[in-house]
Amino acid sequence: MLPHKLIEKRLRQAVSAVLPDADLSTVRVRPCPDPKFGDYQSSALMSLAKARKRNPRELAGEVVGRLDLNDCCEKVEIAGAGFLNFRLKPETLAKSLQAVVSGGPLFFEKTDRPRTVVVDFSSPNVAKPMHVGHIRSTILGDTLARVLRLLGERVITDNHLGDWGTQFGKLLVGWKHHLNAEALKDDPIAEMERLYKLVNTASETDPAMLDAARKELVKLQAGDEQNLAIWREMTALSQSQFETIYRLLGVKFDHTFGESSYNARLPSLVAELFERGIARPSEGALAVFFEEIPQLKDHPALIQKSDGAFNYTTTDLATLEHRLKNWQPDEVVYVTDGRQQLHFQQLFMIFRRWHTETEMKLAHVWFGSILGEDGKPFRTRAGETIRLSDLLDEAQERALKVVSEKSPDLPEAQRREIARIVGIGAIKYADLLPNRQSDYVFSWDKMLALHGNTAPYLQYAYARIRSIFRRAEELRGQESKADPQIRLESEHEASLGKHLLNFGIVLETVAEEYRPNFLCNYLYELAGYFTAFYENCPVLKSEPAQQASRLLLCDLTGRVLKEGLAVLGIETLEQM
Ligand code: ARG
Repeated sequence: MLPHKLIEKRLRQAVSAVLPDADLSTVRVRPCPDPKFGDYQSSALMSLAKARKRNPRELAGEVVGRLDLNDCCEKVEIAGAGFLNFRLKPETLAKSLQAVVSGGPLFFEKTDRPRTVVVDFSSPNVAKPMHVGHIRSTILGDTLARVLRLLGERVITDNHLGDWGTQFGKLLVGWKHHLNAEALKDDPIAEMERLYKLVNTASETDPAMLDAARKELVKLQAGDEQNLAIWREMTALSQSQFETIYRLLGVKFDHTFGESSYNARLPSLVAELFERGIARPSEGALAVFFEEIPQLKDHPALIQKSDGAFNYTTTDLATLEHRLKNWQPDEVVYVTDGRQQLHFQQLFMIFRRWHTETEMKLAHVWFGSILGEDGKPFRTRAGETIRLSDLLDEAQERALKVVSEKSPDLPEAQRREIARIVGIGAIKYADLLPNRQSDYVFSWDKMLALHGNTAPYLQYAYARIRSIFRRAEELRGQESKADPQIRLESEHEASLGKHLLNFGIVLETVAEEYRPNFLCNYLYELAGYFTAFYENCPVLKSEPAQQASRLLLCDLTGRVLKEGLAVLGIETLEQM
């Protein structure tokens, strides 16, 4: 068992002996923010004491009196207003590291009670280019799904494509009257975008054009064969664009149930909400009101427009119903930008009124925007939104330049492969590193730098560890020491070892708070501890038993770096 879990378990036993009614889930043990005070700490007794109007230090004393950690910790300290500080015995630390060397799990435990979690992410819109705004949902959602899976949850990913909606009226008019077949072959997305813009602009001044678009939309929704065929073609062309990008990003979905999958359910769903009194007529439309919630008082949600058309919320209600019925999830997570906060608040409230029988957790994980270096929304020089595919191409080209300068002798194919892994990794990491709710400035130079908190820096740290092993092999030939033991002699070895132990705690926090930036920072610190260790503790020049122990530390660090980057969706290289 990982030491912090063992301490937590014993602490819970001691707390329940003293306070039989305490909610033990609040009793948690976390790494100490400052190693000066210890390796782990718990602040649980302070809140337990407060709730019982007791003196926290006194309660702490009583609990510590019942707490036996002699086998793993030094004397437990009561600090400040009632913190408990724990310091591992050196042999406990060494034993915990050795357990991983002997084939135990890599400093994290899979949950023994797996939950089913649906992650709804990426979800771009058909017939439009996937732009830089979709990158955050795609990268963040993919990472959350990977972390949850690694921790043993049953994860179902669903790409809720925007493949139905009012844009198709205009697109159909454009397709029927202005389509350039050559251009469509060359670059289908650009041609569809051109058609949309053309009709959209024309509609602003020409009511007949707007009317034509409306009529095409009504025909499509009524199931007109010709319009459906065009719609299917537009969807297929978009899908192949999306797939190219997903392949490059290494992102996969279990399902792609677009908005159109739920069309058939919408009329009866709206009727049901009306009959149950959840929705009511409002100015010719049907709406759900939230009078009891001050912030939502003036924001009813429309579920059917006065012309009979259904809304984004209506489709999302049908989608949620489908997920509940087919997958019985414990939780559904939506990853979109912050502008959709009101939508999801409304959606979740309506769903609760409608499906009172379920306690399924609903979470909107939202994020801020990407800004250009001028602090304004990130756009091309001409002021256009940036296409995701162009951005990913540029990342690889820039990385190729760096690689070619550093290692001109590598064959071109290998340089290109390195550039792909470094370029895509850099973009992903730069997106995951900031607190997701703040806007961040997109900077090629920063994200591709080999120093600082970047993907190339971490990939380089990993490659350097691999090169230590290549050299060790050369020095040592075939013979390797049987059953090497971890021995922690210097403070640098101990600090590195303690940081390794925290990998699982960080993964759990990422999953609980939907914040991969914690993992980015953990890995960056890990690379820092490793550097301090490597600079102060000779590895290849030390005597055999010490060398064997230090190589084990190198290996554990390499494995955590690789696994940590992998759940961020970032590949590693043996050589850079
Ligand atoms: N297609 C939407 C957009 O591009 C995102 C959909 C998010 N998922 C959902 N179930 N509403 O903004």
